[in-house]
Amino acid sequence: MRCRIQNHQRKCACEASLACSTCHVYVNDKFLDKLPEPVEEEDDMLDLAYFLRENSRLGCQIVLTKELEGMELTLPQATRNFYVDGHVPQPH
Ligand code: FES
Repeated sequence: MRCRIQNHQRKCACEASLACSTCHVYVNDKFLDKLPEPVEEEDDMLDLAYFLRENSRLGCQIVLTKELEGMELTLPQATRNFYVDGHVPQPH
């Protein structure tokens, strides 16, 4: 899985299994309230991410819907990868 955000690519190392935080993004305020609250596992991973903000989310957990059309995401200066080398993600 690759994330493409405004011509940038992020690795999304754990393929949405909430184990890496490489998909950390900032959601613009206009759309933040349209997202469901993060599950506990997402919050726990965000607590470990660099440069955490009030509008931080894990991009891999955002399910795109028509309501989110036009949503703008920005990237933090750096991300942390807690993903264990050699791990093979399982399909969802
Ligand atoms: S891709 Fe690993 S937490 Fe999102």
